[in-house]
Amino acid sequence: MSLTRRQALILGGVGMVGAGIVTVPISGVSAKSASKLSDSDMPRPYRTPLTIPPPLAYQTTVGADGVKTRHYTMTQRLSSAKILSRLTTPILGYNGIFPGPTIRIDKGTRAIVRVRNQLPAKHPTLGYALPTSTHLHGSASLPQYDGYANDLTLPGFYKDYHFPNFQPARSLWYHDHAVHFTAQNVYSGLAGQYLISDPVEKGLLPQGSFDVPLTISDAMFAANGALGYDDREHSGLWGDVILVNGKPWPVMQVQKRVYRFRILNASVSRSYNFKLSTGDPVTVVATDAGLMPAAQTVGSWRHSSAERYEILIDFRKYATGARVELRNSSNDNNRDFDNTGKIMAFDVIGTAVNTADPTWNSLPTTLVSSHPMDLTAANSTKTRKFRIKHDDETNIWTIDDLTWEEVIASGFQRVMADPALDAVEVWEFENSSDGWFHPMHMHLVDFQILSRNGKPPFPYELGPKDVVYVGERETVRVLVHFGPHRGRYMLHCHNLTHEDHAMMLQFRVGLGADEADPNDPMKAAPAVWDPVQG
Ligand code: C2O
Ligand code: CU
Repeated sequence: MSLTRRQALILGGVGMVGAGIVTVPISGVSAKSASKLSDSDMPRPYRTPLTIPPPLAYQTTVGADGVKTRHYTMTQRLSSAKILSRLTTPILGYNGIFPGPTIRIDKGTRAIVRVRNQLPAKHPTLGYALPTSTHLHGSASLPQYDGYANDLTLPGFYKDYHFPNFQPARSLWYHDHAVHFTAQNVYSGLAGQYLISDPVEKGLLPQGSFDVPLTISDAMFAANGALGYDDREHSGLWGDVILVNGKPWPVMQVQKRVYRFRILNASVSRSYNFKLSTGDPVTVVATDAGLMPAAQTVGSWRHSSAERYEILIDFRKYATGARVELRNSSNDNNRDFDNTGKIMAFDVIGTAVNTADPTWNSLPTTLVSSHPMDLTAANSTKTRKFRIKHDDETNIWTIDDLTWEEVIASGFQRVMADPALDAVEVWEFENSSDGWFHPMHMHLVDFQILSRNGKPPFPYELGPKDVVYVGERETVRVLVHFGPHRGRYMLHCHNLTHEDHAMMLQFRVGLGADEADPNDPMKAAPAVWDPVQG
């Protein structure tokens, strides 16, 4: 955010200039802090060790076709987290933890994840009801297992989600997607990483404890340690505390070798501009939907909510005792606080490095191509354009003046587009506003970013994607192959307060308007009553 815009905001909420004007009251939130914690309770950067969410246990069965299926169970429950040193924080968590357990699975092994909703009937502080819908973001799941916003699992029920895992290695994440309350639910803790491995990735990149999931989010706290919630009239939630894997500004000890970090921005609204405190570049090796054709060395990168970038950091050259920080230089239209420019720190230790592991000193340059990256614009048979904007009269976020409310009103039939199965199309998202950025996410598909304002995408975006940062006054074109499933899938802004109010539509692949839909997202696999409660 430029100083002038920030000053304008501080001076009375007149900063939202240009298209998409809404005057956002700023009472109750100063630019100094969003949390109401006492000085002594307010966490400080670099006091807590990084923790890694535990793996999730499973049982394996082998089908008649020889294909393995792993059976997992996750229970959504109200629990409390130790985020602050003295106070506890009530959260909603998969298995009661935030982030939820990490699922690591090989490509070609199927998964059935039973998600049990054992949440209370109402959110403990925000008071709304707690039906949930679980989306595996980055998976080409069938519509009925895709976390369709209105395919709800009520407290006391469970739903078995079938995940195919046939796609190339990638960093996915699971998170709640319940209609109108996705922001609060994810913010309260319902999110975790899900990682698909394959031999290509295993041969190229660090594994095991050198392959580190980092889930980054921002939060604000009430005086008693509970999470505060203020979405500034649905424009965005801007916390003053940065959490990495649920800990404030943690520190990780690193050996003098190459590490791989799977960075997920799980923030409700905040985007980051990440860079290292040393000024050294990082090597970006994978984007949302897996490995890039070629690694990209970048000094910083813009990272919106729901995007995943896998990066390599080479710690070989630092002295024992050196501290390397991951910092955030922010982007336009975020609200920054004293310490939101800091993310986490890496402390270099002198432990002997296992040089028998070939990835210890390897910064591969050529990686692997993928179907979306092999497409060219010449493959496209249609271009569709969508304008994303704010309706100032209603304070509603829209895509082509439509919202999820129209989808609901149509009995979930209305669609923004109906590409044929296997159609290749160019989709264009236009954000003419100065006041907002929108991370646009398409379910089902991986895409290639073709251009932004007619220019090539950033180097770190030259890989398969499922979210694209549509910044202020940006028009972004993406190239999409629709498949492999038929059916209705959502498309929305991943600023979750925008998504909930109600910047979300759906497209229908390979089905006519009147054709029966065997994979009806609401009817094909509804949740069932859980005979085991608790
Ligand atoms: Cu990560 Cu429709 O969401
Ligand atoms: Cu948005």
